[in-house]
Amino acid sequence: TQKIIIDTDPGQDDAVAILLALASPELDILGITAVAGNVPLKLTEKNARKICELAGKPETKVFAGAIRPLARTLVTAEEVHGQTGLNGPVLPEPTMKLQEQYAVDFIVETLMAEEPGTVTLCPLGPLTNIALALIREPKIAKRIKKIVLMGGGFFEGGNVTPAAEFNIYVDPQAADVVFRSGVPIVMMPLDVTHKALTKAVRVKRFRDLGTRVGIATAEMLEFFERFDEQKYGSDGGPLHDPCVIAYLLKPELFSGRDCNVTVETASELTMGMTVIDWWSVTKRPKNALVMRDIDHDGFFALLVERLGRL
Ligand code: BDR
Ligand code: CA
Repeated sequence: TQKIIIDTDPGQDDAVAILLALASPELDILGITAVAGNVPLKLTEKNARKICELAGKPETKVFAGAIRPLARTLVTAEEVHGQTGLNGPVLPEPTMKLQEQYAVDFIVETLMAEEPGTVTLCPLGPLTNIALALIREPKIAKRIKKIVLMGGGFFEGGNVTPAAEFNIYVDPQAADVVFRSGVPIVMMPLDVTHKALTKAVRVKRFRDLGTRVGIATAEMLEFFERFDEQKYGSDGGPLHDPCVIAYLLKPELFSGRDCNVTVETASELTMGMTVIDWWSVTKRPKNALVMRDIDHDGFFALLVERLGRL
């Protein structure tokens, strides 16, 4: 099994990613750490617990982390995810407890205690918690196996400004720390996730599972996809964050190449842009495996099969 920590700001697509991980015996989830992003921290940590309970896994450890980005004011995305961050299904208030430990301390402590090179970090939101952990204990950089993250975009452009994707835009300074850390990174940018569209026929497959998880997932996706459908006229909404977990389970679904990635932190116009040297026009070190394509049918088959186990 692969040991992972999921760092997240649920969010319907984060929720589906968490469900996919909880349904997969290949993954040992050491903890779920919440960060402020799509909605404020109070809601993201609660949403993470709601999803663990929906999956029937209340023993999962959920921690609360950073309340705001390193340097900038928090930007949220209620217009996409709704006021709760998880609009769509009616989910009961969670009864499982939030862990008392601060998420950043949990990340540091876990990486220092586990065998080096055995723990993968899976950030699905702004990179604040991960950057804070790297700053607090720089020794963890060499102990992390890899970071598989959802964020950024290149040929596809941005989704919050013309240049920037939401997760990187919300905390560009944190993203800069992560991309300079020397930890091997696998990056799922919008170029991949915009090819993982929910589509009505796919939502129906979740609903047809007939389980609580299947129906709640269909309800989450129906709420979530209306934003992209209305704004861009696309068939469904992009299932961003589950790409990260799917990569751990079936890396062959994705293709990309090793690149240098640098984050814009200076210019307001392009703040949070991921500058990806796809064509190796610089000699800057290749610090990330940047994905560009996905076998989206294979990806949805995996999702339906796994969520059907819960
Ligand atoms: C990312 O931003 C959030 O709204 C989603 O959960 C995803 O992590 C996509 O830009
Ligand atoms: Ca997210």
